[in-house]
Amino acid sequence: MSETENLIRIATEARSCSLAPFSNFLVGAALRTEAGKVFTGCNIESASYGLTVCAERVAIWKALSECERDFTDLVIVVDTEQLTPPCGTCRQIIWEYCKHAKITLANLRGQREEVDIVHLLPKAFDARFLKEAGK
Ligand code: THU
Repeated sequence: MSETENLIRIATEARSCSLAPFSNFLVGAALRTEAGKVFTGCNIESASYGLTVCAERVAIWKALSECERDFTDLVIVVDTEQLTPPCGTCRQIIWEYCKHAKITLANLRGQREEVDIVHLLPKAFDARFLKEAGK
């Protein structure tokens, strides 16, 4: 099994932990570090809808909070015919913390697509602009 397929399997398992009673839209994610460690995530919804956290960010926060900084792969698994790209908030976080990771979208029907954060979030805002201010 390829590394990507293995990550898809892991993200699919993580998806089964989703807490999505409001949308019933279950998402799983797997984030691999340079050293080969894998952090998983699933979406977690809140009755106060806006507090919902996406699967990708759960995986990213888990990894960052354990001092991991370098990532090779991010996999996102859904059960929709059309593969689901990360939401705008997740794109920003991926840009800031997982810029170099290969991003693979997958579904339970065997479809896969590789996407690039530069194309998902062109002209991204990041810390470089904060340093420019007032110069
Ligand atoms: N969701 C994710 O977990 N990742 C995405 O990339 C898109 C959306 C979740 C958030 C919410 O729980 C549900 O999917 C519907 O928006």
